[in-house]
Amino acid sequence: MTDADPRFPPGFRWGVATAAFQIEGAWNTDGKGPSTWDTRAHRPGGLAGGATGDVACDHYHRLAEDLDLMAGLGIGSYRFSVSWPRVQPLGRGRWNGGGLAFYDRLLDGLLARAIEPVLTVYHWDHPQPIEDAGGWACRDTAARFADYAEGLAVRFGDRVRHWLTLNEPLSVMHAEMSGARPEPARHHGLRVAHHLMLGHGLAVPRLRAHVPGAEIGISLNLAGTTPASGRMADVAAAARAEAYEDRLFLDPLLRGDYPHLDGRPVIEATAADRALIAAPLDFVGVNWYAPARVAASDAGVFGYTRVPVPGAGTNLLGWPVAPAELGALLAWLRTHYPDLPPILITENGFPDTDEPDGTGAVPDPRRIAYLRACLEQVRAALDAGSDIRGYHVWSLLDNLEWEHGYRPRFGLVHVDFTTLARTPKASYRWYRELIAAQPLDG
Ligand code: NOJ
Repeated sequence: MTDADPRFPPGFRWGVATAAFQIEGAWNTDGKGPSTWDTRAHRPGGLAGGATGDVACDHYHRLAEDLDLMAGLGIGSYRFSVSWPRVQPLGRGRWNGGGLAFYDRLLDGLLARAIEPVLTVYHWDHPQPIEDAGGWACRDTAARFADYAEGLAVRFGDRVRHWLTLNEPLSVMHAEMSGARPEPARHHGLRVAHHLMLGHGLAVPRLRAHVPGAEIGISLNLAGTTPASGRMADVAAAARAEAYEDRLFLDPLLRGDYPHLDGRPVIEATAADRALIAAPLDFVGVNWYAPARVAASDAGVFGYTRVPVPGAGTNLLGWPVAPAELGALLAWLRTHYPDLPPILITENGFPDTDEPDGTGAVPDPRRIAYLRACLEQVRAALDAGSDIRGYHVWSLLDNLEWEHGYRPRFGLVHVDFTTLARTPKASYRWYRELIAAQPLDG
């Protein structure tokens, strides 16, 4: 913590976030079935560098060490996801006791360290049999998902109060649109989007039924879609981008219908489906990494494309480095959704190639500068009236960054993927001091 770091109100929740496929490993241990991501990783040319999640950070076997790293940070909140094929290998029916027991150990370890769990039900790794039956293109997957969510609530509801149904449905939709599929990308993507929303809507009451005092939300990746220029074509493109990105899920969740363009909803849904999807939420999870500038383009499925942000550099993944625009996004949420439930920042992070220096330390000054700049925006948004309850850094550990493999590192803790040794980076110490310097609760 330096004088440059912002102070937050007492009770603000500080945390880190992870996801099962990216850290757990143990891909076929104790009865776990394959997920779609295991299948993809095991195909030739699947993930960058031939990466798989077979071992990943081996978090499954190094749980105690990772819990101690969390405790060492002084965090009060840990966002993680349950691997659906670990606990219900076929995606329906039989539950896997070995997999459930792992999450029992995780939850008990968190609570023993006074860290509150925030459980993400679905962070992209559904069981392969669910995919074989049609995946999210199939309406029945929404029902399977709700059954799965209910099973978690029955088992873990005594220890987990904060639940996130889905992580980044927009990313799932985009991934689906870029894969092989029998119908045009546009239809396929929107069908997937609706079934994800339906799964969410069906799960919410099932979670509430089993979790006394549940706080239920969903994590959305929101970028803020600004036109690349004042040209009418780009302004119209930005409106389309907003409808097919930031508002695609917020509107049905909070306003009861998909966004309208040219007088029609971008997804035609029945009144019954819309009512399910609009089940009241206790909070909205916001994942934020970078803003978007959009320009008109016939090459884009929805008539727009992303273009560079003027004056902003780019990070290892090519995303614009423009942390001040987190403030713009939070302001947009305030003005466009006056009835927005409280916000929990469920992810914010910075990818880089961090490696130990000659002394064994892992300096990551660009990450510290970025996170600090983002936190300044969060602090300013609080002052301007946003109701933001907490913040989670993505991520605790360097981990498997999906199709990009292990090269992009997001962790506060460096992982040597040969020895699996964990080394806290400079950002770990910075975050620990920042948390320690915040006012005490009550
Ligand atoms: C979004 C995803 O939720 C997470 O899984 C991913 O690793 C980070 N953002 C960084 O791309």
